[in-house]
Amino acid sequence: MIDHSTIQRILDAADVTEVISDFITLRRRGVNMLGLCPFHNEKTPSFTVSPAKGIYKCFGCGKGGNAVNFIMDHENLTYPEALKWLARKYNIDVVEEEETEEQKLIKDERESLMIVSAFAQKFFTRTLWEENDGRTIGLSYFRERGFRDDILKKFELGYAPDGKTPFTEAAQKQGYKMEFLEKTGLTIKRDDWLRDRFAGRVMFPIHNLAGRIIAFGGRLLKEDPKAAKYLNSPESEIYHKSKVLYGIFQARRDIARTEKCYLVEGYTDVLSMHQAGIENVVASSGTALTSEQIRLIRRFTPNITIIYDGDAAGIKASLRGIDLVLEEGMNVKVLLLPEGEDPDSFARKKGASGFQAFIDENETDFIRFKTNLLLKSAEKDPIAKAKLITDVIRSVAVIPDTITRSVYIKECSKLLDVNEDILYTEIRKQKHKQNDDFRNKENRKQQDRVFKEPETSKPAEEVEAKPTELLIEEMEYLRFLLKHCNSVLYEEEGENPNEFNLVKVGQYMIEEVENDDLVPENELFRQIFYEVKANLMNESFDSWKHFIYHSVAGVSKLATDLLSEKHIESKRWTKAGAYTEKEEDILDQLIPRIINEFKLRKVKLLLDETAQAVILAYEEKKDNLMNEALAKIHNLKQVEKSLADKLGNRTII
Ligand code: GTP
Ligand code: MN
Repeated sequence: MIDHSTIQRILDAADVTEVISDFITLRRRGVNMLGLCPFHNEKTPSFTVSPAKGIYKCFGCGKGGNAVNFIMDHENLTYPEALKWLARKYNIDVVEEEETEEQKLIKDERESLMIVSAFAQKFFTRTLWEENDGRTIGLSYFRERGFRDDILKKFELGYAPDGKTPFTEAAQKQGYKMEFLEKTGLTIKRDDWLRDRFAGRVMFPIHNLAGRIIAFGGRLLKEDPKAAKYLNSPESEIYHKSKVLYGIFQARRDIARTEKCYLVEGYTDVLSMHQAGIENVVASSGTALTSEQIRLIRRFTPNITIIYDGDAAGIKASLRGIDLVLEEGMNVKVLLLPEGEDPDSFARKKGASGFQAFIDENETDFIRFKTNLLLKSAEKDPIAKAKLITDVIRSVAVIPDTITRSVYIKECSKLLDVNEDILYTEIRKQKHKQNDDFRNKENRKQQDRVFKEPETSKPAEEVEAKPTELLIEEMEYLRFLLKHCNSVLYEEEGENPNEFNLVKVGQYMIEEVENDDLVPENELFRQIFYEVKANLMNESFDSWKHFIYHSVAGVSKLATDLLSEKHIESKRWTKAGAYTEKEEDILDQLIPRIINEFKLRKVKLLLDETAQAVILAYEEKKDNLMNEALAKIHNLKQVEKSLADKLGNRTII
């Protein structure tokens, strides 16, 4: 029990913005703060914090509450546990009663696993600093490698004593149950045969965002071809390898502060960079980079620089990582170290300022990196060059943002000495392929669903948001319609001389699509489309507000997803020196392109449908229908060609 006045002190101290900023990056938006919601997967921020009211609310998933609720939800804690968490953060003393055996039992499993892990870390760390073998074997290993004591302490490194079960025995003596020792993988149990998993290794505890220990990596001290150099904890209730980055707890503040994250491969790379004063660094720790790990970084910054060893394996790994990061809408740079170096060795060699300077001079955006890498071999070989173009363009095509894409296309065109038009055509091909892949995947998912037991399907609210049913071009169309419907697109001459009418983006976009009878069947799309249309003459219509707070949940969700922070990211680009224009400044160029891409996509779909109709009519020997369909195909083909021409022979962008 925590007494009432202590609770009050904790609640008074807990600043909602400060607490939440420990976990995600918030940006000011008017009187509120805005960030990416940690409770559901989103690409555009809908998680709002009101410092004045002391509350947060996600317009995407609906979660909301005060600082205590946030900690309860995010850290999976009970109310008293969350209070204690906050008390620790604000250095408020809470008198805790000694835990009874019974209390130890009732804590839920996750909590038990974390408690065992915390015990293990303390045990390993104490062994490293205070026990004989810890000092002579573990500590001297770290010191020989040149790690300073403050780094060893910051990362809570340790040493697991050698032998069959010295750790397990110590844990059991303290009352920790075999069940949890086994589930965390700290103890390996086969029938009645027990072993300490990490015996004789130096220990790297792995922290979650809140700084709690959830797993370990253990390094062998001697070279031993028979044993793995590094051993990791197995997956458990608290440790999911693919969602964790080593060092995120120690790095998160600096990542947010510098608006940048370095990504390296190994534990010791992270340590050495910290030692060299570079603290915004995390490691994927030997696993191939996953999109969940990238999203973890994206909570703090959209800018990521991947640092790889300068060997063939490093280069290959970096190419794999790049597309993954691009797909998540992040800005990627790459830094290859000189051959034979890894960040650990290189940081040691260069020292603090030298390493940072090397990074600043040598990091390159991915286009330059990828092209330079492949260009050497391709220069004189047209086939190889064509392949290279496809390859680079594949990366550009996954970038979700139109503007960023166009910036990269410019860059690419320069580097590869290829006309931008050709690159745009190639991108379109790629995007359609990605669309098709996506649709196939969705179809497969749907088929899977049919064969599943109904009980196992998710409840309605949990199902992925509807927008996934919209094509990329449709989403892009809606995004511009919502964001810019009231902006003036151009002036046109009126009926009388010297009379001009202002044509607005909304009016233009709606007429273009309606005149061609191309409004998609999708319910959400139609709802937004016709509501914008109904308000075209309404000067005070605020599309942002109208749709974000829409009474139909699907609409407000889609709108929040679409109305992104792209312009903020774009400004960030300027700082990095890669970005040229703002979306709203080149609407006259972007809108026609977006409409034409939308139309072209529609036409292609209609062509598919009509081709099916031809086959059907043929099989059923309905000549009339077949001729009708064939004529339709002929028309569509012409429309397709004229759209493709417009997109290809661009006078825009
Ligand atoms: P040091 O040799 O101590 O400098 O470590 P390192 O980080 O340079 O190791 P390396 O570059 O060989 O590997 C990079 C990362 O891959 C390591 O930090 C580990 O996370 C992981 N790793 C390396 N070897 C093994 C292994 O044998 N098993 C497993 N599971 N992971 C490994
Ligand atoms: Mn190394």
